[in-house]
Amino acid sequence: MRTQVAIVGAGPAGLLLGALLAKAGVESVVLERRSAEYVLGRIRAGVLEQVTVDLLDAAGAGARMHVEGLPHAGIELCFGGSRHRIDFHDLTGGKQVMVYGQTEVTRDLMDLRESQGLATIYEAEDVSVHGFDGSRPSVRFTQDGRPYELECDFIAGCDGYHGVSRQSVPHSALRKYERIYPFGWLGVLSETPPVSHELIYSNHERGFALCSMRSATRSRYYVQCALDDKVEHWSDAAFWAELRARLDDAAADALVTGPSIEKSIAPLRSFVAEPMRFGRLFLAGDAAHIVPPTGAKGLNLAAGDVGLLARAFEEHYRDRSDAAIDDYSARCLRRVWRAERFSWWFTSLMHKFPETGAFGQKMQAAELDYLVHSRAAATALAENYVGLPL
Ligand code: APR
Ligand code: PHB
Repeated sequence: MRTQVAIVGAGPAGLLLGALLAKAGVESVVLERRSAEYVLGRIRAGVLEQVTVDLLDAAGAGARMHVEGLPHAGIELCFGGSRHRIDFHDLTGGKQVMVYGQTEVTRDLMDLRESQGLATIYEAEDVSVHGFDGSRPSVRFTQDGRPYELECDFIAGCDGYHGVSRQSVPHSALRKYERIYPFGWLGVLSETPPVSHELIYSNHERGFALCSMRSATRSRYYVQCALDDKVEHWSDAAFWAELRARLDDAAADALVTGPSIEKSIAPLRSFVAEPMRFGRLFLAGDAAHIVPPTGAKGLNLAAGDVGLLARAFEEHYRDRSDAAIDDYSARCLRRVWRAERFSWWFTSLMHKFPETGAFGQKMQAAELDYLVHSRAAATALAENYVGLPL
């Protein structure tokens, strides 16, 4: 088997890269260890920056997003018993975000790839990457017990935090930076109308809460929980009561509850691996970096990475130029670190950190007060939330 670009991972990064490469006339094969159904079963955040919306449009995968997606021109911060709106349009000259579930993004990209008759190998087992420090890289895998080798010009490691690509880089060649947060997020999906037409981020003495949505009839809610907490400790009634307790009175009264259709706990971490290129192996998305979900940057960073990588491969084949390939890692990391900073800052501002004590709570309260009374401070939040340029 042979292709130009072997893409490991059929998550948003791998599928968007494949779609952008197809538009550029660059051949790719996607190798995914799970089934398509399993990949689509993952519940992930769904706030798309304009950069991501534009890349999905450029890839030819944006039609349903523009019909079913929800443009959002602001968010609300809830603290001290009241809500304060951050107006993106006013603060960023009209920029906004699109609320559209990552599952739907992935589904649209899968459908596009299938309609183009492009190769996606699901349930590929024992995937391993080889020869990327030379000029003849390859990806080996087994399927139904049979061994295969995919020869290629380049390997795109889009296989997430637990994937094989980053693990295949010599330890000495990687610099890793990590912060583990001392809490998790308990998330619930429910077929109930969202409590508000925009997202509500709440800093409360009981802990952080977030009110989000997937559509006008499907809501997504989160409450900060202990790292050792378990989903089975939380009945639906207990979750709704805790969420209500962390919101202002108006939101608590307006909250429509119902049976959870998904309930899960996720840990929070900040992580970056540098560099993002090793010879002919390129890391993109969660394979290279992780952000706490507070700033909704994970999918958007993955999209930005593969937008730059697709352009670099296109220039290699079309213009016989490797300038963008050589610049890929540094260009991505500059944007990654800015998003890591914003996600860390927003997480530090909005969550309860018992170890910082009463003084830490006062610092959060003072920063929130400053944030909603200073146009400069609110602008800084808004321009990071809607996304910095690629
Ligand atoms: N071989 C093949 N596929 C693999 C392997 C492997 N060894 N290891 C992991 N994968 C697959 C996973 O099954 C998954 O489908 O790679 C894919 C990686 O997808 P994501 O983890 O979604 O990462 P990415 O595409 O970078 O998207 C980042 O997804 O996890 C969220 O919050 C994250 O929103 C962000 C986005
Ligand atoms: C979500 O809708 O799942 C979501 C939205 C915003 C975030 C995190 C998660 O910051």
